[in-house]
Amino acid sequence: MEQLLRVHNFSVSRDGFGAGENQSYERPFGHADPGDMMAWAGATASWPNRTDPGGSRGLDDYFTRDFSRNIGAEIMGRNKFGPQRGPWQDHEWRGWWGDQPPFHTPVFVMTHHLRPSFTVSDTTFHFVNDEPAAVLAQARAAADGRDVRLGGGATTIRAFLDADLVDTLHVAVSDVELGGGSRLWESPDELDARYHHEVVSSASGVTHHLFWRR
Ligand SMILES: NC(=O)c1ccc[n+]([C@@H]2O[C@H](COP(=O)([O-])OP(=O)(O)OC[C@H]3O[C@@H](n4cnc5c(N)ncnc54)[C@H](OP(=O)(O)O)[C@@H]3O)[C@@H](O)[C@H]2O)c1
Repeated sequence: MEQLLRVHNFSVSRDGFGAGENQSYERPFGHADPGDMMAWAGATASWPNRTDPGGSRGLDDYFTRDFSRNIGAEIMGRNKFGPQRGPWQDHEWRGWWGDQPPFHTPVFVMTHHLRPSFTVSDTTFHFVNDEPAAVLAQARAAADGRDVRLGGGATTIRAFLDADLVDTLHVAVSDVELGGGSRLWESPDELDARYHHEVVSSASGVTHHLFWRR
C-alpha cells in the first residue's frame, strides 16, 4: 500500500507563520504565543501531549485524533526538536517532551549538525543531514509499512512542499497576526494548483484547512 507523507495539526497565524522570531529556550515559539497558536489543540481530549483528563470532543478533537493513526515515523526540523542552534555544545538535550515523547515511533531530526541516535521510552531520535527525498526514504523504511508524519516546523514543511513530497496536510489557522517568523505560506490558496483544498471553521475560532493531492 502507498505510504503517505502527512502533516497534522500544524498551526499557523492568519498571516501564515508557524512560529515567531527569536526562538529560545524561554520562548520556543519566539515572539509568538503558543497559547494563541495551539490553544485549539491543547483543549481537546485527544491532544497527544495532554497530561490531565477531560478536554473537548467536538470538531477539533476529530483532527487531533488523526495525529497517530497509521503513522510509523516522524520527520521534524532541528528547530522543532530544541532551541539550540549551530554545532551541539553537548548531547544533554533530548527534546522538549520529557520521559514520554508523544511520537512512539522513530523520529528523524533534520540538521546539518549530526549527533548519535538515542531512545526515550518508545521513541528513537535519529539525526539526518540529507535532502528531503533521501530523508523521506529513510523514514519510510523505518515506518514498517505505515505512513510518515511531517511534524514541522514551517521551514521543514516548506522544503518538502517545494520538493513535491507531501501527500496530505492539515493546517489550523488561528486568528492572530505575527508579522514575522517562520513562514508556511503567503496564502493557503497558493497550494490549490497541486492540492484539493477544503476549509472548515471550528467553534473554537480556528479554521481548518485540509489538502490532498490532485
Ligand atoms: N505551529 C506549529 O504547529 C508548530 C509545529 C512544530 C513546531 N513549531 C515551532 O516551529 C519552530 C521551528 O520551525 P522552524 O521553521 O524555525 O524550523 P524547523 O523546520 O523546525 O527546523 C529548521 C532546521 O532544520 C534543519 N534542516 C532543514 N532542512 C534541512 C536539510 N535539508 N538538511 C539538513 N538540515 C535541515 C536546519 O537545522 P540546522 O541549522 O541544525 O542545520 C534548519 O535550520 C519552533 O518554534 C517550534 O516550536 C510549530
